[in-house]
Amino acid sequence: MLPGTRPGDGDTRTFLGAIMRNPHQLGAIAPSSKAVARLATSVVPGTRGAVVVELGAGGGVISDAIRDRLPPDGRQLAIELNHDMVRHLRRSRPWLEVIAGDAGDLGRFLGRAGVTQVDAVVSSLPWTLFDERQQKRILDEVSAALALGGMFSTVTTLTAMPFRRFRLFRGLLESTFTTVGTMGPVWHNVPPALVFTASEGPPPAAGDGPGRR
Ligand SMILES: C[S@@+](CC[C@H](N)C(=O)[O-])C[C@H]1O[C@@H](n2cnc3c(N)ncnc32)[C@H](O)[C@@H]1O
Repeated sequence: MLPGTRPGDGDTRTFLGAIMRNPHQLGAIAPSSKAVARLATSVVPGTRGAVVVELGAGGGVISDAIRDRLPPDGRQLAIELNHDMVRHLRRSRPWLEVIAGDAGDLGRFLGRAGVTQVDAVVSSLPWTLFDERQQKRILDEVSAALALGGMFSTVTTLTAMPFRRFRLFRGLLESTFTTVGTMGPVWHNVPPALVFTASEGPPPAAGDGPGRR
């Protein structure tokens, strides 16, 4: 981080600039709110040495929320496709392991980083911009990367719901994982958002972590 700057400085400016240059890659009209970031990161464990990967880190608002939950000896990686956002993340958040590339190559990136399994994957990827093959490829990579008991969360918006690719994604989530949950809506977000959670294990006990569908 540059001297005199704080995490968050320039996040929205960089994000909006990237949207104007490349609207079909960002898939959003504004960064996630802190309320959404808090909800999406409820899957991040507080266990020592936990490893968390974020898909589509953008301006870094969810990266900051992951950092707030992760123990100091945890490892935090972020995969981001947009080069402007990658530059911004590396400049503003030197503590984050930023990987420039496609979330569909998650397993390959983790191998290169010396990570065998991760405890949580937090995504805010624009699923409705992906065709079925891309959606499935990323979900399969996430499922393969998660340790036993590991959790996946992904942000989506209420405005995405009418789209066929949203329903496609929801179906793939159900067929890839044994337990799928929904949190929200979070009205304090533009547009209002939902967070889906998914894991391979049995549903969490009532009052224990994210809620069920
Ligand atoms: C909706 S924005 C979310 C940004 C930020 N995490 C937030 O919540 O405000 C989606 C982000 O995913 C990135 N992205 C899109 N396709 C991607 C892909 N295939 N792999 C990795 N990142 C991708 C975009 O560049 C963008 O930064």
